[in-house]
Amino acid sequence: MSQSVDFDRVLNRQQSDSMKWRRYQGQDVIPMWVADMDFAAPDAVVEALQQRVAEGVYGYGVVPEGLPEALCAWYHRRYNWQIDPQWLVWLPGLVSGLHAVAKVFGEPGGGVMTHSPVYPPFLKVAERSEQQLIAVPMLEESGDGQWQLDLAAMAQQITPETRLFMFCNPHNPTGRVFRREELEQVAAFCLKHDLLICSDEIHCDLVLEPGLSHIPMASVSEAIAQRSITLLAPSKTFNIAGLACSVAVIPDAKLRRQFNQQMMGLMPHVNILGYVAAQAAYGSGEPWLEGLLDYLRENRRLLSEWLVQHPKLKMSLPEATFLGWIDFRAYDQSYPARWLLKEAGVALSEGADFGLPGFARINFGCPKAQLEQALARLDQVLL
Ligand SMILES: Cc1ncc(COP(=O)(O)O)c(C=O)c1O
Repeated sequence: MSQSVDFDRVLNRQQSDSMKWRRYQGQDVIPMWVADMDFAAPDAVVEALQQRVAEGVYGYGVVPEGLPEALCAWYHRRYNWQIDPQWLVWLPGLVSGLHAVAKVFGEPGGGVMTHSPVYPPFLKVAERSEQQLIAVPMLEESGDGQWQLDLAAMAQQITPETRLFMFCNPHNPTGRVFRREELEQVAAFCLKHDLLICSDEIHCDLVLEPGLSHIPMASVSEAIAQRSITLLAPSKTFNIAGLACSVAVIPDAKLRRQFNQQMMGLMPHVNILGYVAAQAAYGSGEPWLEGLLDYLRENRRLLSEWLVQHPKLKMSLPEATFLGWIDFRAYDQSYPARWLLKEAGVALSEGADFGLPGFARINFGCPKAQLEQALARLDQVLL
């Protein structure tokens, strides 16, 4: 059942403290970059926050009773993944989680493997923990026209020092939802090379392609579950990233203890309002989410129809996320986002930051009118 929500409503974020909008305040720029949607959170979340704020006391908090159960029920109901509440380690952010995993489970001189293009922090964690980055380019639009992992190249490039594989599923920026067979191959690769896998599944609730569903990496086999750290959050799903509440799922008790011990005192507590929002979202946000997914499917359709009018551009249809990964290389621009910001007044995310110059990422998680306006501006430069 979907909730009727007016996703067309244009919110004025120009004067707000939004990172997405503040960057271009006072300029004639439509921000279509950072992965933050221009929609209000579900009413249930707003009401729960209002109630908690009205208490007037904001001392140190603990994980609210019922939140772990609400999260576990969500993953069980939607993805058939049985999480034991004891496996949860609450974190103030997923990027902190990525860095923490590299620091705790890697060692200086070790190797961190990932795929590219990828969400930029993946490309930074190795350097920050004094390790070697092995970013293996994905195969571009081969086979079914979708981006794929290059397992043969991964096998060639792995080093004996590599301890960790950082995986993003659904994949930011391409929107790919990896299939069971691919996940099984990744699991086999990690087990064969004795790697831990850190699986960032922050976009898992945003699968747009009918007939596809997200498969949690740790649900693929017991063996990979015991080698996994899965990073999750309600932040992308319910547009509450500013409330900074996320969670690592670490089924293996020894790895969990190691993580908790090393992060003690370094990793701040989760904000009490973040917990409140997460509980309301997982408990009552599902009808809102169904409405959101319908709306995003329409925006995705609009974007792909627009692309048909631009044969020099290429994009494989994002199966998940509110992000489109567009190939601008036919325009001979290594930095198309920079170019289009200047020429069209539309702010996209630069592909080079994701490890692939010549591409740019568009965020279509916004009212349709905003998307249409941004595409019309791009037309003036691209047509
Ligand atoms: C794949 C992925 N991981 C992590 C994050 C950020 O998570 P957080 O804001 O919790 O640090 C994003 C945000 O866009 C993302 O796309």
